[in-house]
Amino acid sequence: MTHPKQIFIIAATLTIAIATFGFAAANAEAPEAGAVPDGAELYSTRTCVACHGKDANTPLLPSYPKLAGQNSEYLFQQMKDIKSGARANGQTPAMRGVMHLVDESEMQVLADFLSKMAPAPAQTNP
Ligand code: HEC
Repeated sequence: MTHPKQIFIIAATLTIAIATFGFAAANAEAPEAGAVPDGAELYSTRTCVACHGKDANTPLLPSYPKLAGQNSEYLFQQMKDIKSGARANGQTPAMRGVMHLVDESEMQVLADFLSKMAPAPAQTNP
C-alpha cells in the first residue's frame, strides 16, 4: 500500500511540473530577446514618465512640454536633436541627461507611441 507521504510527494511533484509548464507556455508569448520593447514600456523604463507625466500631458514642471498627440515625425526629430545637442534650449539639458538610455529605433517607437496618446484637452479662458 502507498504511504500517504509518498502520495503527497507525487502530488507536489505534479503541481510543480504543471506550474513549470504553465510558466513556459506563458513565456512563449514574450518577445524574443533583442527586440525593441513597446512604447509604453520604454516610456516608463527610460524615465520619460518622471518628467512628462503618465499621460504625457501632466509634466513635472508647468514649463515642460506636453507630448501626447503631437506629430510622430516631429517628436522623433526633437528627440534626435536633443540627444545630439542640435537642439539646446534653456531647458534641454534636463532631458539630455537621459537620452543615452534610448537609441534611434527606440526613439521612433516612443514617437509613435506618444503621437497616439490622447492630446491635452483644449484650454478655454474662463
Ligand atoms: C529630467 C526631465 C526629462 C526627462 C527624464 C525626459 N524629458 Fe523630454 N523634455 C524635458 C524638457 C525640460 C523638455 C523641453 C526641452 C527644451 O525646452 O528644449 C523636453 C522635451 C521633449 C520633447 C520635445 C517636445 C517638443 O514639443 O518639442 C520630446 C519629444 C521629449 N521630451 C520626449 C522625451 C522622452 C521620450 C523621454 C524619455 C526617453 C524624455 N523626454 C525624458 C524633460 C525631460
